[in-house]
Amino acid sequence: MFWYHEETKHSYASVRRHPNRLSWESQPNVFKQYPETFVRYTFDIDEAEDNFLYHIAGINAKKSYPGVEYYLRMNPSAGALYPNELYMQLRGIEGKPNGIYHYDVAASALTLLTQLEEGEGLEPYLGYREQMQGYLFLVSSVYWRSAWKYKNRAFRYCLLDAGHILGAIEAAALLKPHATMVRYDMDRASLNRLFGFEKREWFTAAAAVAVPMRGSSVTPVDFSLPYVEAAGTFESNETIERAYEESTVVNGCKRDVCAPHFSYRKEQLQEAICKRRSQREFSAEAITKGQFGYLMEILSQPILSDCEERVNVYVVVNRVLDMPIGLYRDGTYLKYGDFSHKAGYLCLEQYNLATQGALILFLTSSGENYQALYQKAGIIGHRLYIAAEYLGLGCSGIGAYYDDEVNTFLENDDMILYALAVGR
Ligand SMILES: Cc1cc2nc3c(=O)[nH]c(=O)nc-3n(C[C@H](O)[C@H](O)[C@H](O)COP(=O)(O)O)c2cc1C
Repeated sequence: MFWYHEETKHSYASVRRHPNRLSWESQPNVFKQYPETFVRYTFDIDEAEDNFLYHIAGINAKKSYPGVEYYLRMNPSAGALYPNELYMQLRGIEGKPNGIYHYDVAASALTLLTQLEEGEGLEPYLGYREQMQGYLFLVSSVYWRSAWKYKNRAFRYCLLDAGHILGAIEAAALLKPHATMVRYDMDRASLNRLFGFEKREWFTAAAAVAVPMRGSSVTPVDFSLPYVEAAGTFESNETIERAYEESTVVNGCKRDVCAPHFSYRKEQLQEAICKRRSQREFSAEAITKGQFGYLMEILSQPILSDCEERVNVYVVVNRVLDMPIGLYRDGTYLKYGDFSHKAGYLCLEQYNLATQGALILFLTSSGENYQALYQKAGIIGHRLYIAAEYLGLGCSGIGAYYDDEVNTFLENDDMILYALAVGR
């Protein structure tokens, strides 16, 4: 097991020994913005390409409490801290020069960071030998945004949230429709340097919504960008920095070239993407066996990627009509019992989600490539959120659980990556 995972386990004793106190005065900013001198292209959501981009990470709700206002997005994020930033190369997209852009969520715009000369691009850093027409996305983490609250465990949240962005790219691309290929085998060190991140932000994955331009060649683009403060405040965290460095090089990766199949209707999918929220409590009503089957079918679909890691999906069935309660893995019935209360306890006593929900899922892995397997758990989580919303159900991610006790319950010694609840 990766030492970082072992070191950041929660237990009943650890959360009581180290209660989480937040220093509100150093609360990080969730929006990165490049200086005004950079050219911005504000989204026109009536235009197809901007509409696609808006559906990945655009703001879709505003919450107001006395003295505070905050904005929620298409993609969920643990604690609404949004540690990730999204960059992209555009090639051959109507209305915008070929170039490298930053997704400015606050302004609902793309900021042009640098234009591409003929024959150059980011492709070689991602292992492509030909020019790719379309979008090459790069997902980064500004880890302090999450570490401010979640301390050393924040690297896990950065990866899950990054996986959700990859899942959000995949969902929005289905509207085009276009397949999404996730890439983990990339030259992170060079890319981090080019973008001027100074170790406060780093890339963890890329995704291509693009097609190769057969017969073309491409040379690596070289540019330099100024460091831009993304969070307003910063405190370094040695554990997280070391975890990132030591999980940066991928090993023994297998490609998954099987395309997933989704039977979504476009209008309803678009609605589900826009309406997606985390449900805070459930009504304790059952879901149907057909809905359960539909969700499991979605989760069993392959993910196109250059570094496939096995992620196991355990499901605690609490309330599904005509299905025995108990624990299942990948469709196999493992043990009978009413585990709703147990699951609530395991998720750091979040009984509101687990006891009233119809299903609680635990995603686990014994894989080797930590960044790839953790982000894959986030992609699966995102697929679940979207599919649940599509069926008129609710979903919530759960990043906090008593790791070793979940292992005892599941009777395995995998790394526990993520829990999720689904219900009415
Ligand atoms: C990785 C991850 C972990 C989360 N963990 C929890 C959790 O333990 N408990 C909870 O109530 N919500 C959890 N959430 C839900 C977030 O708080 C929610 O996504 C965020 O507030 C934004 O709201 P929205 O999803 O409605 O857009 C989690 C979300 C993600 C993506």
